Amino acid sequence: MSRRAAVVLGAAVISSWSLLATQALLNAPNALELRITTSMSGVIPSTLYGYMWEDINHSGDGGLYAELLQNRAFQGVLPGTQNALTAWQPYNGARLSVTNKIEGVTSALPNSLQVTIPKTVLGPIGFENTGYWGIKVQAGWTYNGSFYAKSDTFTGPITASLKSTTGATYATATIEGISSTWKKFTFTFEPSASALDTNNVFHVEVNGPQAAGQTIYFGMFSLFPPTYLGRENGMRIDLAEALAGTNPSIWRFPGGNNLEGESWATRWKWNETIGPIENRPGRVGDWGYPNTDGLGLLEYLNWAEDLGAEPILGIWSGASAQNYSELSTWPIVPEADLQPYIDDAINEIEFITAPANSSEWGALRSKYGREEPYQLRYIEVGNEDQFQPDSYAAYRWNAFVTAIGERFPDLEFIATTYPSTALNPPYLKIDYHQYESISWFENAAFMFDNYPRNGTQYFVGEYAATSTNDSDALGTIATGRFLYPTLAGSAAEAAFMTGMERNSDVVFASAYAPSLQHIRNYQWTPDIITYDAGRLVLSTSYYVQQMFSVNRGTHLLATSPASTNDSAPLYWVASHNNETNTVFLKVANTGPDDLTAYLFFDFNVTSLFGTAVMLSSPTLSSITGVFNISNTLDEPENIIPVSSAFAIPYPDRYNYTFPATSVTVLALEANI
Ligand SMILES: *[C@@H]1O[C@H](CO)[C@@H](O)[C@H](O)[C@H]1NC(C)=O
Ligand SMILES: *[C@@H]1O[C@H](CO)[C@@H](O)[C@H](O)[C@H]1NC(C)=O
Ligand SMILES: *[C@@H]1O[C@H](CO)[C@@H](O)[C@H](O)[C@H]1NC(C)=O
Ligand SMILES: *[C@@H]1O[C@H](CO)[C@@H](O)[C@H](O)[C@H]1NC(C)=O
Ligand SMILES: *[C@@H]1O[C@H](CO)[C@@H](O)[C@H](O)[C@H]1NC(C)=O
Ligand SMILES: *[C@@H]1O[C@H](CO)[C@@H](O)[C@H](O)[C@H]1NC(C)=O
Ligand SMILES: *[C@@H]1O[C@H](CO)[C@@H](O)[C@H](O)[C@H]1NC(C)=O
Ligand SMILES: *[C@@H]1O[C@H](CO)[C@@H](O)[C@H](O)[C@H]1NC(C)=O
Ligand SMILES: *[C@@H]1O[C@H](CO)[C@@H](O)[C@H](O)[C@H]1NC(C)=O
Ligand SMILES: *[C@@H]1O[C@H](CO)[C@@H](O)[C@H](O)[C@H]1NC(C)=O
Ligand SMILES: *[C@@H]1O[C@H](CO)[C@@H](O)[C@H](O)[C@H]1NC(C)=O
Ligand SMILES: *[C@@H]1O[C@H](CO)[C@@H](O)[C@H](O)[C@H]1NC(C)=O
Repeated sequence: MSRRAAVVLGAAVISSWSLLATQALLNAPNALELRITTSMSGVIPSTLYGYMWEDINHSGDGGLYAELLQNRAFQGVLPGTQNALTAWQPYNGARLSVTNKIEGVTSALPNSLQVTIPKTVLGPIGFENTGYWGIKVQAGWTYNGSFYAKSDTFTGPITASLKSTTGATYATATIEGISSTWKKFTFTFEPSASALDTNNVFHVEVNGPQAAGQTIYFGMFSLFPPTYLGRENGMRIDLAEALAGTNPSIWRFPGGNNLEGESWATRWKWNETIGPIENRPGRVGDWGYPNTDGLGLLEYLNWAEDLGAEPILGIWSGASAQNYSELSTWPIVPEADLQPYIDDAINEIEFITAPANSSEWGALRSKYGREEPYQLRYIEVGNEDQFQPDSYAAYRWNAFVTAIGERFPDLEFIATTYPSTALNPPYLKIDYHQYESISWFENAAFMFDNYPRNGTQYFVGEYAATSTNDSDALGTIATGRFLYPTLAGSAAEAAFMTGMERNSDVVFASAYAPSLQHIRNYQWTPDIITYDAGRLVLSTSYYVQQMFSVNRGTHLLATSPASTNDSAPLYWVASHNNETNTVFLKVANTGPDDLTAYLFFDFNVTSLFGTAVMLSSPTLSSITGVFNISNTLDEPENIIPVSSAFAIPYPDRYNYTFPATSVTVLALEANI
């Protein structure tokens, strides 16, 4: 699929390219001559590519977490308010309110749904949940449903169903046995037909005349479709498969701002995200909506294992999001008050890593279904503590790292402040975040080339090209911010990624962020995967992550020349995988013209066929606007990677043309 025919270099790039072209063949002076050597210049860490995670833009509740009912247990809402009824609506005149005046289903869930049936009513009456802006109804799926209910007077049957908003019924279940004490009722739905769209509701009704004038209470609803790998309380299959499809090797969680809480009291508390979902109170997260915490600590750890990814556990470091305010005069957690939070982190780590038979926390983990300790190597202390660097440097980093390090000497700690902030003990790993413009990423492709090799390593833990506007990378869509990743932005990220991989002795891990976005309610753009209740779209940046991550070498190979800013807008990195005997050449062309490289190898390929996977615009590059092309929910396949095999006539050379605004990974069989 390469466009070898059209090798036309723009005037702007000829001058810098001519410098490189001294060894190039005479009849094509503007092609780059690029030699891939057998000189191994380093081992690529197995942790290089992965994900950063927090519940934002309904990435968790309403996203990866497969639960279909929104506001399922009235967590994090104020009883009696309209907001408390988010996603719930009456059917045929029932009166709904959320109350905490009766005892809840559990002490963790004090709020219940009070359903008052008018004295006079004809036909069925009840209420509905509209899901996370819709519910997917799929023939062949078994949905597991449940709720708690009670009534002092009503003892009749309750009917639950999956319906379209226009009245079609896809599945129904009848529940009997309601009494004056809370009881959990379970049922399954097996729709025999798929709905055409996601305009569907979870519908609950009783016989109106039979229930007239009475009150029924409900609590803790749940409705699950089949999940990824069949895990109970698990993940939505299409999103999980998409994330797994990049072979991520790290999973940083639970945030992000969502770790911090808007206040100390509402920080993410690991101990309130474990055990039966009825025991989890949930919380108002940092991104403006309640979190069920159904996606809790063990779910995350199991998910990381399912992905084959190493967890990077973020621990709360004594600052909440309120502490960002420069106007605030209140201190962050003072040094003298920090110990309980340090103890809490130690308990969490013990819960994750201690043997079940020799520790209270290990025993609790075992009780909750996981006997064997999890593997844990990385602890990230806080999140973006460059916003409160003074206390971080003065005592917070030191207190957490010292106490946790004494207890767990094998753990490695990742700092979250500015790289220039001096910490005691000095940090050896630092999480570095960049949401920047396209040109920033192109320039930053070389930022690690001269970084001192002094033992300090980077986790580029959040990055994305967000804008065309160099002076306003986080501005609005009107000033250049992307709604979806664009081809040009993704090519610039790829340029930057060649630099990270080339310097992966000092960049041990990386993660595009944020990951997931529900198109009906989001707080941040662009995201790597966008979805609604029924569909998803993989962005151009998703494909770049996938191309780089799936095609991983074990060792870097030196090239001649090296990729430098003189050879921009072509950026590259070469590697060798010693298990599969494959040489990879990853190339980003961020410029407006197709560029040819005459590739020479210091080795002979062992197969005279190579493969290329390439992300580029199918439209001619000269057409205005092509750089801004995105995959969208309505046009999900504007830009998708194309794989091709090509014959290599000579075992030690090959000419390849990299199209304008493209990302390419060449794979050659070679035993180096
Ligand atoms: C649904 O329920 C069945 C029977 O209890 C169980 O085997 C299955 O794992 C459940 N599925 C999910 C997604 O929880
Ligand atoms: C930090 O957050 C805590 C808890 O919400 C609050 O009490 C304190 O005032 C905040 N400090 C600053 C500096 O904002
Ligand atoms: C969780 O731990 C915190 C201490 O960090 C404690 O205040 C809270 O009560 C605990 N929650 C539960 C449900 O045990
Ligand atoms: C705990 O279990 C491990 C194996 O799971 C065993 O090797 C060890 O002896 C046990 N320790 C105690 C104190 O029972
Ligand atoms: C390594 O060098 C960087 C850049 O000068 C510095 O920020 C960092 O603290 C150094 N690391 C160590 C362990 O000295
Ligand atoms: C870039 O952002 C700046 C600052 O918001 C704004 O003034 C300018 O108009 C933007 N440029 C474009 C082309 O939108
Ligand atoms: C995604 O979430 C953030 C935080 O709530 C919010 O500010 C933003 O508006 C959301 N984005 C959209 C598009 O709704
Ligand atoms: C290339 O990088 C060097 C060193 O960072 C810098 O001085 C120079 O200006 C850059 N050249 C271009 C063309 O960007
Ligand atoms: C591949 O390289 C890694 C890292 O140097 C090494 O541990 C491994 O043994 C090598 N495998 C083979 C098959 O050479
Ligand atoms: C490649 O193969 C040729 C013969 O086809 C041989 O002359 C040459 O030495 C080989 N090169 C290497 C690096 O093995
Ligand atoms: C891409 O979009 C931005 C802002 O929407 C615009 O300023 C820029 O000119 C566009 N670029 C191209 C090549 O169309
Ligand atoms: C590469 O292209 C040049 C110029 O057309 C040609 O001379 C050379 O033989 C080509 N090399 C290969 C390996 O095809």
